[in-house]
Amino acid sequence: MPLSLAEMRRSYTLDGLQDDLTMDDPLVMFRQWMQQARETESAPVEANSMALATVDSAGRPHCRILLLKGFSDEGFTFFGHYQSDKGLQLASNPYAAMTFFWPSLERQVRIEGQVSRLASQLSDAYFDSRPLASRLGAWASPQSRPVASRAALESLLAETEQHFVGQTLPRPEHWGGYCLHPERLEFWQGRADRLHDRLDYRVQNGVWQRSRLAP
Ligand SMILES: Cc1cc2nc3c(=O)[nH]c(=O)nc-3n(C[C@H](O)[C@H](O)[C@H](O)COP(=O)(O)O)c2cc1C
Repeated sequence: MPLSLAEMRRSYTLDGLQDDLTMDDPLVMFRQWMQQARETESAPVEANSMALATVDSAGRPHCRILLLKGFSDEGFTFFGHYQSDKGLQLASNPYAAMTFFWPSLERQVRIEGQVSRLASQLSDAYFDSRPLASRLGAWASPQSRPVASRAALESLLAETEQHFVGQTLPRPEHWGGYCLHPERLEFWQGRADRLHDRLDYRVQNGVWQRSRLAP
């Protein structure tokens, strides 16, 4: 008999976060954790996948998995359809949160802040780097809108292919990148006996302030 969900319990013992060894710059810390996650997560797609939460104009939260496509001191970059549900939510409320979970390292990172659209040249550059099928998909798929059937979706793709035959595909205006500018980051490291480590970074007057939170 497999355990019930309520009986499932794992002890986290892989690592810990020591106050004196913890980095002052959360971006440096994120870079190190991401690097380690890329080495240890089983599929390469997993290290940069994260849950992105946005809030609609009625104050209701929505959450979905996305891929992080880059990060710098400026923020954390992802791509999608500007008229999708998440796109409309970000247009009415720019605050968002993203969460990474790296089970192989018993780690979680939470990031919160305001989101803005990427400069169009940056979206163009990323769009141009995508495989042809992904670029066609960005044109053909009205992300988050109902489609009559799988066949209807496939015929939208076929029409798009036909339309652009022999041409280079420009980035559609309705598709592009976003940057989440972090105001808060939290690093969570699982520890034994549920006494996990949580380090919280908040920006104050342009400087990151770090504190430890109770688990
Ligand atoms: C592993 C994985 C990666 C995904 N990556 C993206 C992505 O980078 N961009 C995107 O728009 N949707 C991505 N999706 C699909 C989203 O989860 C979601 O279905 C889509 O963005 C529509 O969400 P919305 O209706 O809330 O806008 C991904 C889904 C999974 C499971």
